[in-house]
Amino acid sequence: MLAVSEKEQSTIDPVELRRAFGTFVTGVTVVTTRDRDGAPRGMTANSFTSVSLDPPLLLVCIGKTASSFPAFDAGDSFAVNILHEHQKEVASLFASKLVSKFDAVAYDTVHTGAPVLSDSLSWFDCTVHDRVEAGDHVILVGRVRAFGTSPAAPLGFCRGRYVSVEDPMPPGWTPSHRMMIGYLVEHEGRILLRSDGSGGWGLPAASRRKAGDVVSLDEQGTVALRADGAFLYSVFDVADQEPGYVVYRSVLSDQGGKTPELPSSLKFFAPDELPWERIPVRQIRAMLRRYLHERREARFGIYVDSSDGGRVAMIDGPPRHWRMLDGMAFDQENAKE
Ligand SMILES: Cc1cc2nc3c(=O)[nH]c(=O)nc-3n(C[C@H](O)[C@H](O)[C@H](O)COP(=O)(O)O)c2cc1C
Repeated sequence: MLAVSEKEQSTIDPVELRRAFGTFVTGVTVVTTRDRDGAPRGMTANSFTSVSLDPPLLLVCIGKTASSFPAFDAGDSFAVNILHEHQKEVASLFASKLVSKFDAVAYDTVHTGAPVLSDSLSWFDCTVHDRVEAGDHVILVGRVRAFGTSPAAPLGFCRGRYVSVEDPMPPGWTPSHRMMIGYLVEHEGRILLRSDGSGGWGLPAASRRKAGDVVSLDEQGTVALRADGAFLYSVFDVADQEPGYVVYRSVLSDQGGKTPELPSSLKFFAPDELPWERIPVRQIRAMLRRYLHERREARFGIYVDSSDGGRVAMIDGPPRHWRMLDGMAFDQENAKE
């Protein structure tokens, strides 16, 4: 028997096998974790598979020769970031052996402490549910604790090359990469809003966030934010034709202890002075209401849109369901009390 299996093994050429495996079209992910010292580690992986909805499980296979393997093998959490079609460079970076991979990307701590890339198609923040020995890889099974998604097109991988997916969105959807990065900034108890130029107010926004950036909220650069002080707060779509929002809670950069001189397009509002009827985006109104509520409790969560009404992953404690009723944020957990 042994002789047969040895003979069988020797007939499998690993190069040919890899080539045959490579005909299976996949997306591309970056899997991340932290090592014993808390440093972020990550690698490109296309072995991601969804596993179960109840409980919510996924898996990814980690090669034992990867330099980040010890971190994945020892850690109790990890995140899977699915890349969008404009992230080939991120995929190549994380497929490399560079030690400084995380210097070139912005990332957040969401729920478990694993680094979640600030820009991706979708992300899943997981605790380790199981580890299964499998030849030269370990299958890492994760239990999803928080996740987010955006209406962008995926990056594909086939036969060793990055590929675009033709027709990636369901009918009626616009593949949008126009995710607005909005900032929820509080200064001395007041919240910063930006005029939309036609009588309405919205969130100050900027283009994509980069690692180590100071984000300027106006053209003159009078008001700047410290990007490294930003926490992910809310991810939602407004409408199919509109850009989606990724909103961060953020802090002003050092203003020398003074309230900055604001251009007329920016204004701080006390909570009881917020111009609700002049904030046209329903989701932003709901988000501000949630913020005021959570601020009173000093207990913040992260809202992620989903077809069943959205979820709030609390920074501590279990996830809660969240529904928006005609502009009002309605917290189902609190409503029961
Ligand atoms: C598209 C693509 C998919 C990959 N998928 C995996 C995978 O699923 N598991 C794995 O261990 N390595 C995978 N790799 C290889 C790792 O990304 C690569 O070995 C990387 O250098 C590991 O980084 P590290 O040594 O810094 O940990 C993939 C590479 C590419 C380009």
